[in-house]
Amino acid sequence: MGAEKRCLFSRAEIARRVAELAEAIGRDYAGRDLVMVGVLKGVFIFMADLVRALPFPVEVDFVRLCSYGAGTSTSGEVNITKDVEMSLQDRDVLIVEDIVDTGLTLAFLKQHLASHQPRSLRICCLIDKAERREVEVPLDYVGFPVEKGFLVGYGLDCGEQCRTLPEIFVVEKG
Ligand code: PRP
Repeated sequence: MGAEKRCLFSRAEIARRVAELAEAIGRDYAGRDLVMVGVLKGVFIFMADLVRALPFPVEVDFVRLCSYGAGTSTSGEVNITKDVEMSLQDRDVLIVEDIVDTGLTLAFLKQHLASHQPRSLRICCLIDKAERREVEVPLDYVGFPVEKGFLVGYGLDCGEQCRTLPEIFVVEKG
């Protein structure tokens, strides 16, 4: 029994939504001192498209987090395997994430980055998947709300496969 993929968001739909997000972010942060912090690895394609769609240059940094037990015996424990490298103090920080699932990763990261004393701290995610949300995290910019389904493509993986697909697919069991 193989797994079939069904296209959920086409290249054109993604490009249109990324442009809309960039316009909103560009409006809200005009004249500010914006640093975008991307959550590796899944965000690498979305963030690359988003920053190039903005009407002004921004600085970027990245974190990589590792969560244990999410989806199984959820411990909620999140570890930082790569931290930010620039100072965020008194800066306007926007966390950029590909997908929010349980919310545990972002809840942890928001608290962690808040300890760097940024001037402001908000969140932009491409996909808000409410199905398995366990902790509420306010999302300031959302690309696509998605009820459920396992998604791959446009940075999202399944066992490290499918990240480089330009569209977003939902995996359907065959
Ligand atoms: C995914 C996604 C988020 C996290 C969301 O990362 O990119 O960081 O899971 O899950 P949560 O809301 O339940 O905490 P993943 O662990 O798959 O790593 P990757 O980005 O390297 O693929």
